[in-house]
Amino acid sequence: MSELRFDGKVAVITGAGGGLGEAYALMLAGRGARVVVNDLGGTFDGKGSDSTPAQKVVDQIKAAGGEAIANYESVSEWESAQKIIQAAVDSYGKIDILINNAGILRDKSLLKMEIADYLKVIEVHLHGTFFCTKAAFGPMREQGYGRIVSTASAAGVYGNFGQTNYGAAKMGIVGLMNCVCQEGARYGVLANTVVPTAGTRLTATVMPPDVVDKVKPEYVAPMVVYMCSEKFQESGKIFTAGGGYFSRAAIVEGPGVFFDTEAGITPDMIAGKIEQISALEGGSEYDSAMDQTGYVLSKMI
Ligand code: NAI
Repeated sequence: MSELRFDGKVAVITGAGGGLGEAYALMLAGRGARVVVNDLGGTFDGKGSDSTPAQKVVDQIKAAGGEAIANYESVSEWESAQKIIQAAVDSYGKIDILINNAGILRDKSLLKMEIADYLKVIEVHLHGTFFCTKAAFGPMREQGYGRIVSTASAAGVYGNFGQTNYGAAKMGIVGLMNCVCQEGARYGVLANTVVPTAGTRLTATVMPPDVVDKVKPEYVAPMVVYMCSEKFQESGKIFTAGGGYFSRAAIVEGPGVFFDTEAGITPDMIAGKIEQISALEGGSEYDSAMDQTGYVLSKMI
């Protein structure tokens, strides 16, 4: 099997000063990509800033013979997000790959969650992903090539106690990527989402130390790096990765039930058919909202 290479490619990785982002940066640089290592360097709950983490990763890449620059801007404001992407264009002339990875946590149960903690998490994850994607999309569209990998979480796809802010942001990112997938299709810009599991400072508070060791960020990186490659041709997909496990997650809609709209539809009729309405067997994964609407229109009684 020939090695996937990234010679001539330019990658921006947000939040790459540690954890998963660092693993992505080292692997991409090790395979020839020139990398912008972005990291604000704050605490795990999004306080303060520090240039050390991003610089350390750049030093590692350079020591191994790779090419990288550090960037310390925050993803969560439009002006600073544009500077992250501009750093790639200014230093390397373009951007081919964007990995939206920066993240923080501010877990609290719904009633205890401060509005500021809700907003901050949405700002970093959802707004940050939107801002960086928007800034990168123009240059990618112009050159007719781009790979965007954004980061969701099982907490959003499946739900988790105490993470309403985080879960909402992470599932918002799935919706965002589904739409970017539509807009990028004609221009060779592919947008996908990864659902990782890794022992990092974000999960160290909830994972026992032996589990942290078993699910190293290095075990997620091969999937994300593949998703950033020319060989990878999917768009609008969700892949999970962690601890040596790789899979695809999807939103599937059952074939459903059609009632005659002319005859009138009551809640009692819904109750009577709820098993068939809920069934997923024979269902579909739709490529777009138009496809889903097309199915409904084609079957309407
Ligand atoms: P981490 O805390 O090691 O890495 C996140 C990085 O993002 C940090 O280095 C942090 O300084 C940086 N960052 C935070 N706010 C930023 C901002 N506004 N601008 C730029 N950089 C910023 O944590 P980890 O686990 O590596 O997380 C990476 C991504 O993976 C996050 O989006 C996280 O939500 C997601 N994730 C991680 C999982 C895991 O099991 N570790 C599970 C599911 C999702």
